[in-house]
Amino acid sequence: MQCPICYNKLIKECDNNGNNILRCCNGHSFDISKYGYVNLLPSKTNSGDNKEMVLARHNFLQKDYYLKLALELKNIINDLNVKTLLDIGCGEGYYDRIINDENIEIYGLDISKDAILKAAKTDNDINYVVASSNKLPFEDNYFDCVMSIFSPIYPSEAERVCSKYLIKVIPNKDHLKELKQELYENVRDNKILKEEIEGFNLVDEKTIDYKMKVADVNELFKMTPYFYTTHNNYEIKFREMDISFSFIIRIYKVY
Ligand SMILES: C[S@@+](CC[C@H](N)C(=O)[O-])C[C@H]1O[C@@H](n2cnc3c(N)ncnc32)[C@H](O)[C@@H]1O
Ligand SMILES: [Zn+2]
Repeated sequence: MQCPICYNKLIKECDNNGNNILRCCNGHSFDISKYGYVNLLPSKTNSGDNKEMVLARHNFLQKDYYLKLALELKNIINDLNVKTLLDIGCGEGYYDRIINDENIEIYGLDISKDAILKAAKTDNDINYVVASSNKLPFEDNYFDCVMSIFSPIYPSEAERVCSKYLIKVIPNKDHLKELKQELYENVRDNKILKEEIEGFNLVDEKTIDYKMKVADVNELFKMTPYFYTTHNNYEIKFREMDISFSFIIRIYKVY
């Protein structure tokens, strides 16, 4: 990893109190938490998903309603022979835990300290870092593959640290449509645009569609942006529902 202040390499050391730290040659140092993650954000203010959002996402994801997507990503990553992977906006790390095996080095990065704390507590085998996707603390071309699952990326930074592939997952137009129909009178049909990403060529696109009976619709609702945009969010209590899950996985290659 790179120092976020002077961009020199960070080396793992022990400080005078016996704590593990990362330090660069200019003496900038960063604590490694007891759960193994490191916070490289310059400011101490909280950004990204808050504790409640992280917990809702964790509670819902651990019931494996998104397992098909996770397993498809694992297959793609194996087929592409990826050995070093950066998950940008990794949240609480659900996909990293499924993709992880002894043949791959995974870094999960998120701007939310609460998300990284949850991810690192849940799995101490993956490298987790609090940082922003607009300033990735890694040297040029370090990763075979950079991945973004419903998270923001900055193309120039993604391209800088990536030597081969970018995998981007976005919701397809019918994703969670039954939930939206419960919440809004007129559900707008999202247009899915072909997205050009500077520095990359789109080389493949896959869709995943399935329906599942969801008993935990309240948890699902809490992990969506709709929870924060509906007025009476605390009053809604959902019954069990059949829900459509629908995703687009886009695979890009560095020029
Ligand atoms: C919709 S959540 C997706 C989380 C995870 N990929 C998943 O699918 O479970 C978006 C994530 O992006 C993170 N995020 C938002 N802005 C970010 C930024 N500038 N840099 C890094 N992460 C960011 C949020 O904190 C949140 O964890
Ligand atoms: Zn430094």
